[in-house]
Amino acid sequence: MLLITGATGNIGHELTAALEGKQAKVRLLVRDPARAAGRAEHVVADLDDPATLPPAFDGVSKLFLLTPGIGLTQTEHAVAAARAAGVQHIVHLSSANVLGDPMPAMGRWHHDREELVRASGIPATILRPGAFMTNTLEWLPTIREGGFVLNPIGQGRFAPIDPADIAAVAAVALTEEGHQGKQYVLTGEEALTVIEQVQILSTAIGRDLEVRPVASPEEAVRSRFPRGAPPALADALIEGYTLMRADTTGFRTNTVRRLLGRAPRTFSDWCTRNTHRFRS
Ligand SMILES: NC(=O)c1ccc[n+]([C@@H]2O[C@H](COP(=O)([O-])OP(=O)(O)OC[C@H]3O[C@@H](n4cnc5c(N)ncnc54)[C@H](OP(=O)(O)O)[C@@H]3O)[C@@H](O)[C@H]2O)c1
Repeated sequence: MLLITGATGNIGHELTAALEGKQAKVRLLVRDPARAAGRAEHVVADLDDPATLPPAFDGVSKLFLLTPGIGLTQTEHAVAAARAAGVQHIVHLSSANVLGDPMPAMGRWHHDREELVRASGIPATILRPGAFMTNTLEWLPTIREGGFVLNPIGQGRFAPIDPADIAAVAAVALTEEGHQGKQYVLTGEEALTVIEQVQILSTAIGRDLEVRPVASPEEAVRSRFPRGAPPALADALIEGYTLMRADTTGFRTNTVRRLLGRAPRTFSDWCTRNTHRFRS
C-alpha cells in the first residue's frame, strides 16, 4: 500500500492521477473526506494530530511525505507513524532552498525535515524542487482586482517547475527500483523573469496584464498578506524575494528530463491548462 500525504494539494492531486496508470494500491491521507470524493481509497487524518495517524499508516509500505507550512512537528509525527507501521520507503518532498549557501530560512526548515527522514533509518528519496508554476495563482487577487501583477523580484529569474512534473518524478520513485538514497533537484528548463511569465500568461488567457514593480520585498509580503503574515514566514519570504531579486536563483537542472525521458512541461503549457482559473 502506498500512502500519499498532501493528497488534495498541487502535487498530491497530480500524483494520485499519475499513479492511476501504474497499478499501485494507493491510499490518500486527507483532513476533509469531501475533498477526496471519487478519488482513491482515503483515510481521514491530520499530521498535526499523531493520534489520528495509525489507521492511515496501517499496512503502508511506501509513503509520499509532503508537509506544508513551517516547522518540524508534522514531519516528526509522520516519521514516527511510518516507523511504527514498518514503512519501507519514503519519497520526501523537500525544496531546492536546502542548497542555498548560506541556506535561507525556507531551506533550513526543509533541511531539518530531511534530517528527520534520514534519521528514521527508512530508505528515502528526497525531491528538492525549485519554485512551482502554481505560485502564479497568488497573482489572482490583483489580476481580478485590476488586471495587474506585482513584481517583487525585478529582473531576477527562476526556472519554475510544473507540480505535475514533480508528481511524475515522485510516481517513478515510488513504483520503480533504484531511487532509494537519491536526492533529485527538480526545476523547469526555462529561466524566466516575472515580466516574461506575465507575458506568457497574458497570451494564454487572452487578456492584457500590467506588471507593477514593488518597491521592496517587505511591500511584496504586505500585499500578499494584507492582514499580516506570521513573522517567521514574513522574514523567510523577504529573504527569498531578496535572493531572487539579486538573480541568484535562476539555476536549472536536467533531472526531470533524465528521469522521465522527456522535457519538463513549459510555463506556457501550464498557463494553457489553467486558463479557466484566471478567467473565472
Ligand atoms: N511553492 C513552491 O514554490 C515550493 C517550492 C519548493 C518546495 N515547496 C514545498 O511544497 C510543499 C507544498 O506542496 P503543494 O503546493 O503540492 O501543497 P499545497 O497545494 O499547498 O497543499 C498542501 C496539502 O497539505 C495538506 N495539509 C495541510 N495541513 C495538513 C495537516 N495538518 N495534515 C495533513 N495534511 C495537511 C493540504 O490538505 P487540505 O486539503 O486538508 O488543506 C493539502 O493537501 C511545501 O512543503 C512547500 O514548502 C514549495
